[in-house]
Amino acid sequence: MGTPKFSSFLVLLFVIILCCSWRAFSDGHNDFLECLSLHSNNYTSISDILYTRKSNNSSYLTILQSYIRNLRFTSPSTPKPLFIIRALQESQIQSVVYCAKENGLQIRTRSGGHDYEGLSYASEIPFVVIDLMNMSQISINLEKRTAWVQSGATVGELYYRIAEKSRTLGFPAGACPTVGVGGHFSGGGYGSLLRKYGLAADNIIDAHLVDVNGRILNRKSMGEDLFWAIRGGGGASFGVITAWKLQLVAVPEKVTIFSVNRNSEQNATQLIQRWQHVAPNLPEDIFVSVSIRRVNSSIHGEKKTIQATFNSLFLGEIDKLLTLMRQHFPELGIEGKDCSEVSWVQSTLFFGGFPNGVSSDVLLSRVPLTRLYFKAKSDYVQEPIPEYGLEGIWKLLYKDEADMAQLILSPYGGRMKEISKSALPFPHRAGNLYKIQHLVYWNTSGAAESERHINWIRRLYTYMAPYVSRFPRAAYVNYRDLDLGVNNKGNTSYAQASIWGFKYFKNNFNRLVRIKTMVDPANFFKNEQSIPPLMVDK
Ligand SMILES: Cc1cc2nc3c(=O)[nH]c(=O)nc-3n(C[C@H](O)[C@H](O)[C@H](O)COP(=O)(O)OP(=O)(O)OC[C@H]3O[C@@H](n4cnc5c(N)ncnc54)[C@H](O)[C@@H]3O)c2cc1C
Ligand SMILES: *[C@@H]1O[C@H](CO)[C@@H](O)[C@H](O)[C@H]1NC(C)=O
Ligand SMILES: *[C@@H]1O[C@H](CO)[C@@H](O)[C@H](O)[C@H]1NC(C)=O
Ligand SMILES: *[C@@H]1O[C@H](CO)[C@@H](O)[C@H](O)[C@H]1NC(C)=O
Ligand SMILES: *[C@@H]1O[C@H](CO)[C@@H](O)[C@H](O)[C@H]1NC(C)=O
Ligand SMILES: *[C@@H]1O[C@H](CO)[C@@H](O)[C@H](O)[C@H]1NC(C)=O
Ligand SMILES: *[C@@H]1O[C@H](CO)[C@@H](O)[C@H](O)[C@H]1NC(C)=O
Ligand SMILES: *[C@@H]1O[C@H](CO)[C@@H](O)[C@H](O)[C@H]1NC(C)=O
Ligand SMILES: *[C@@H]1O[C@H](CO)[C@@H](O)[C@H](O)[C@H]1NC(C)=O
Repeated sequence: MGTPKFSSFLVLLFVIILCCSWRAFSDGHNDFLECLSLHSNNYTSISDILYTRKSNNSSYLTILQSYIRNLRFTSPSTPKPLFIIRALQESQIQSVVYCAKENGLQIRTRSGGHDYEGLSYASEIPFVVIDLMNMSQISINLEKRTAWVQSGATVGELYYRIAEKSRTLGFPAGACPTVGVGGHFSGGGYGSLLRKYGLAADNIIDAHLVDVNGRILNRKSMGEDLFWAIRGGGGASFGVITAWKLQLVAVPEKVTIFSVNRNSEQNATQLIQRWQHVAPNLPEDIFVSVSIRRVNSSIHGEKKTIQATFNSLFLGEIDKLLTLMRQHFPELGIEGKDCSEVSWVQSTLFFGGFPNGVSSDVLLSRVPLTRLYFKAKSDYVQEPIPEYGLEGIWKLLYKDEADMAQLILSPYGGRMKEISKSALPFPHRAGNLYKIQHLVYWNTSGAAESERHINWIRRLYTYMAPYVSRFPRAAYVNYRDLDLGVNNKGNTSYAQASIWGFKYFKNNFNRLVRIKTMVDPANFFKNEQSIPPLMVDK
């Protein structure tokens, strides 16, 4: 009687050994696939949307690369996901979360793929990408002036769909039309309407999120803490956001735009100096940003000069703008011929960098205007930079590495200074005159080129220190910069993370940590700069 029992014990033991060694050698690959097949009521649909590195489905690399917006991360040495799941519905995301967790795989969620450091599609730890490019529905409720937009939609698509329904509604989000709303809104999201209406995140009224337990939550079921966290705290620490509900905003039927260049010989330095005092204090209907780069002087041939481009959106007509500019910023010398009256959606084309007169259909294209190698950083300015401080920046812009470098200065004030610093995780409100984005681009591959340019922007960043915010030196999370610090692999201590955490979120970082500890205590949703949970003693 004992023998059959013993033999079945042996069989069981054998199965366990086999099973475990197979697990050990299978790098989670087959187990993950098996799990997906078990936890999906509809395996056919999962396999239709699954791209594996191992089998190298012909589309795997194409899909991976087509949403990489920074060429730095297209190199063969960039670590690649085991699987890409191009989700079509929330239930598939639920299965992926469950099975990734079961098999010790990390998840990276990608909406538009614009992450400055590639965190939505690259990781050193074995991982899968949930790609939301195909979840991009937009539905607009004109009566209530609201919209539901899925995370994989781009801001260009959103602007287009709003304009299709109304000429007097808009939404305050970013300038680049290919940016995905999944990452963009969860990190704040700003554009030329920010002085009037604040950030994209300030105008979100509901959301859908798949949490670490695979549940689909909305604002009510996730609660106000988590809903607060995902509007500016970065989505990647908290789950997979599948859709946002937006409060649309009023825009006039006609808005006015202008773009004028002034180089060093045309008093660019003095004008920028003056701009710092003027732009943050203009009426909230006027937005005037400046981008600065060095160019070849058209007058002096090869002689280089600094060129400041003043770009403006005014929520009103030309005459009113001219009056206001003469009153507040006569030095810039804006004239009627510099200005155009256009619809709001046309103004988004202008800020998106498209040539005059192009059809708004280009907003539906997901192919970016330019794709280059780049590295960026951000700073907040609270006191105007003196002229000698600006001159030092120009010196750096004259270096060889800076031939495609740019500084973009975006004025705050207006609505931005009225919203409380703790209303959302995004803390950069009253007290900031403007934000600078420092950018350096290059167009050739290779580690040496990369290092040369990255070193340049680090030098610029060091140079800027005395002129920008301090304690902490603040930064914008959507301009992610891993130089500010990273979580150690696996070990995300509060002390480590608070170095970059306070720069992005100031004191809101502590609330983000508390919420993370509540909703994802085991730190499943993590990356190099994700919010750490507090270690709970077990
Ligand atoms: C050319 C260019 C122009 C830009 N212009 C502006 C601008 O005008 N204004 C501005 O504010 N910012 C701008 N940005 C920055 C942009 O807002 C951020 O890079 C933003 O995070 C990109 O969102 P994404 O969905 O395209 O990126 P992704 O790379 O897909 O995601 C970025 C981060 O968010 C996470 N994430 C993405 N989707 C989800 C989701 N559904 N759920 C949970 N987590 C998610 C990712 O895992 C990653 O950590 C620009 C960036 C570029 C490259
Ligand atoms: C399974 O997936 C297909 C294709 O996506 C879809 O048409 C079908 O409705 C799904 N069936 C179920 C039961 O979910
Ligand atoms: C990719 O390969 C896997 C097998 O490894 C298969 O299940 C899946 O259907 C393939 N996907 C596509 C889109 O061909
Ligand atoms: C996958 O296929 C692409 C093109 O078909 C090829 O360039 C690449 O090296 C392959 N990758 C692997 C891991 O086999
Ligand atoms: C997903 O999007 C791509 C690119 O727009 C498109 O070619 C493809 O047909 C879409 N797939 C599904 C299943 O919707
Ligand atoms: C530059 O400023 C000086 C002194 O304020 C002024 O005289 C001159 O006309 C300005 N030049 C231009 C091109 O505006
Ligand atoms: C500027 O001039 C240099 C030297 O003649 C040239 O190599 C470069 O291409 C020029 N750049 C631009 C943007 O015209
Ligand atoms: C790279 O940029 C330089 C400087 O702008 C330009 O002269 C050159 O043609 C570019 N090269 C490529 C391959 O695009
Ligand atoms: C994680 O932290 C523990 C304890 O502090 C330490 O022993 C270990 O080396 C750390 N691991 C990594 C990868 O940093």
